[in-house]
Amino acid sequence: MTHNITANWTKRWTFILAATGSAVGLGNIWKFPYITGEYGGGAFVIVYLACILAVGIPVMIAEIMAGRAGRANPVDAMLDLSAQAGASKAWGIVGLGGVVGGLMILMFYSVVAGWALDYSWQSLSGVYQGQSAETIESNFGALTDSFNRQWFWQSLFVVFTGGVIAAGVTRGIGRAVEILMPLLMLFLLGLLIYSWSVGEVDASLSFMFTPDFSKLSTEAVLVALGHAFFTLSLGMGAIMAYGAYMPGEHSIGKTVMLIGALDTGIALVAGMAIFPLVFANSLEPSSGPGLMFVSLPIAFGQMPGGIIFGSVFFILVSIAALSSSISLIEPGVAWLEGHGVHRKVGTMLAAGIGWLGGIACIYSGDFFNALDHITANYILPLGGLMIAIFVGFVLSRDRVKAEVGFENDRNFALWHFALRYIAPLGILVVFLHSIGVI
Ligand code: PHE
Repeated sequence: MTHNITANWTKRWTFILAATGSAVGLGNIWKFPYITGEYGGGAFVIVYLACILAVGIPVMIAEIMAGRAGRANPVDAMLDLSAQAGASKAWGIVGLGGVVGGLMILMFYSVVAGWALDYSWQSLSGVYQGQSAETIESNFGALTDSFNRQWFWQSLFVVFTGGVIAAGVTRGIGRAVEILMPLLMLFLLGLLIYSWSVGEVDASLSFMFTPDFSKLSTEAVLVALGHAFFTLSLGMGAIMAYGAYMPGEHSIGKTVMLIGALDTGIALVAGMAIFPLVFANSLEPSSGPGLMFVSLPIAFGQMPGGIIFGSVFFILVSIAALSSSISLIEPGVAWLEGHGVHRKVGTMLAAGIGWLGGIACIYSGDFFNALDHITANYILPLGGLMIAIFVGFVLSRDRVKAEVGFENDRNFALWHFALRYIAPLGILVVFLHSIGVI
């Protein structure tokens, strides 16, 4: 076999941190608050949480299991597993779809990560100190109008991503997240405390947690499902690729619960830190992708020590974006590497495609939005649907049971049921509903 996995994450924590590093990123801190704002708050949050629990968690267990059982990159893992099960080779397409989907995400993701880098730099120079909300708002507009600024930071971010990937799995990815994740959580909590001491806490809590289902559109349900996949890095092989490096004896179920809890917790904390500032400064919760880039600098501009705190915060967000973006190209790079392409060459190729697509996103906001929309709402849920069907129906129950390693039979039965019926039906219903069939 040409695609043996030689590197291995021997410490269980390294796998957890890497998978958490992939899951926690711009999706939690930038995207979750702004789509919650756009789709009306409470009801959206509840549907999103239900999607995480009923669809995301079962699919994540299946993806890690498939990656670990296949012991290879997502394309070859799917090919090997389907061959062993006597199923069609066409299942390899699921892996391939992930490779392409990951690159498509990297294109717009790297632009937003570039904004975070630009903001880290700007914070350091103190531009937000004492500024009005309007000035800070127009500051975000100036960034998104400037091709050069966006291009510079986006390029830098792609170079960082490529650098970590080229350094290899254990050294590059494992180390990068070990220090970052705890630090990021600490800073988010600091921000939460500040925001609660100066912002509109009641208004923001009732916005986020009081559901008004009459405000819930069909599209909102699709977006909530899509975001459950996006935020957990599911449906495109990232978690499968990492799963291939997970030591065989560890329990996948417990690990996934932990990752899911951390990911969801961080998104909720980000929302609870951002919305009190939004309401206190009469910003629009539905103002879109600029939400975090406008509300947080207002806080940093007013709080004592805001220059340092704000800069470090945006640097942490950038690193969180980095630990996610590396998992966007790992499936493609691992696949090329498994077929004799040198890791560095594969990295250059994948990062190069992402970089060029990112430039197109900077040129065209429509292209940016289309990529975001197509990947999160269609490619990832479809990939997840295929994985659920594959692990739920194509692989034999005994094989799956042995691989996944639940200690408890009842938990296994519960998961297997959710994977076979709840997740696929949930995804199908949302799809059919969104295209108006039901
Ligand atoms: N989960 C990441 C985030 O929330 C984004 C991502 C999606 C990473 C898909 C890998 C795969 O930012």
